Amino acid sequence: MAERKIRVGILFGGKSAEHEVSLQSAKNVAEAIDKTRYEIALIGIDKSGRWLLPDQSRYLINESDPKLIKLNRENEASVALVPQSGGDLTDLTAGDTHASLDVVFPILHGPFGEDGTVQGLLKLAGVPFVGAGILGSAVGMDKDVMKRLMRDAGIPIAKFLVFRHHDVLDFQTIAGEVGLPFFVKPANLGSSVGVHKVGDEATFEHAVQDAFGYDTKILIEEFVEGRELECSVLGNHDPVVSIVGEIIPTHEFYSYDAKYIDEHGAALEIPADIPETISDDMRALAVRAFQALACEGMARVDCFLRKDGQLIVNEINTIPGFTKISMYPQLWEASGVPYADLIHRLIQLAIERFEREQTLKTSF
Ligand SMILES: Nc1ncnc2c1ncn2[C@@H]1O[C@H](COP(=O)(O)OP(=O)(O)O)[C@@H](O)[C@H]1O
Ligand SMILES: [Mg+2]
Repeated sequence: MAERKIRVGILFGGKSAEHEVSLQSAKNVAEAIDKTRYEIALIGIDKSGRWLLPDQSRYLINESDPKLIKLNRENEASVALVPQSGGDLTDLTAGDTHASLDVVFPILHGPFGEDGTVQGLLKLAGVPFVGAGILGSAVGMDKDVMKRLMRDAGIPIAKFLVFRHHDVLDFQTIAGEVGLPFFVKPANLGSSVGVHKVGDEATFEHAVQDAFGYDTKILIEEFVEGRELECSVLGNHDPVVSIVGEIIPTHEFYSYDAKYIDEHGAALEIPADIPETISDDMRALAVRAFQALACEGMARVDCFLRKDGQLIVNEINTIPGFTKISMYPQLWEASGVPYADLIHRLIQLAIERFEREQTLKTSF
């Protein structure tokens, strides 16, 4: 008799500025997943945070247009995962079980998805899930904590200052400490939302105000002049790392528009045209960052390469983009791991971690 297929809940959308990116990523994962092994349930989270089980055959509207893509709200059911449900999705209207999930693949970017919140809920529900756990997710989302942990592990990072919304910020003092220009960014976000390059006092005020609009904590960072390199990490305790790719933005930096709005906003060069020694260093650095930041399953590590050959880790992304043109799956593809195999390995890693955690004592 054929073995029962593993039921994968793909959690996508979300209460986030990166909602649309997630819709595209989910569509790609749903299309690429090995249907002989897996059965999927697409669970959309709308912009207010509600969990919905949309019409599975038509869960997106305007699916081929990245600007107009939307969650289809017809024939949807409101669902939830409750503690200890073991992956049983409860229908909130009927009160019964809709589908029983064996594993969840959260493809959510930014706060309320990538920051440990959803991971905590999945852990309480008692269902295995893909990617970093609560701690790794939270740490990877907070650029201040992330950078301090990397600094502690001896990983090279840019000089940065942290400010809270009630702090007094003096432009001259800051410029004296980190030089000019510098970068201003919210501590907890992604996709370059609220990120500004500041060259003078006139642009400073606006940048700070905008960044504080997204978070109560912001970072001011020295400007690192260099190329932007990325690589993909996959695994739990003994992760493997892909070849290195380069992002070549045509805008002043890799801004939100360069990432998602302007289709010519950035070129992805795979593999990056860099000496082998630098590529080896970058890959080793990526694994160190992955481990220092308590990551599991997957992460994309982003670096700057200075002209003098020095590598600086900029950040880690615990749920990287999964669209067809995203760096994370493309780097694996070019490293000999096709998209479907990548998804399979991520799911297996999720189950492996869950089973290991199940053996831990909860009483003594
Ligand atoms: N210190 C810096 N020096 C130079 N460029 C930077 C610096 N910080 C950010 N950038 C530019 O801004 C982009 C977005 O910043 P990043 O810190 O990666 O935030 P996000 O999490 O939003 O991607 C980077 O890809 C890079 O182009
Ligand atoms: Mg980034």
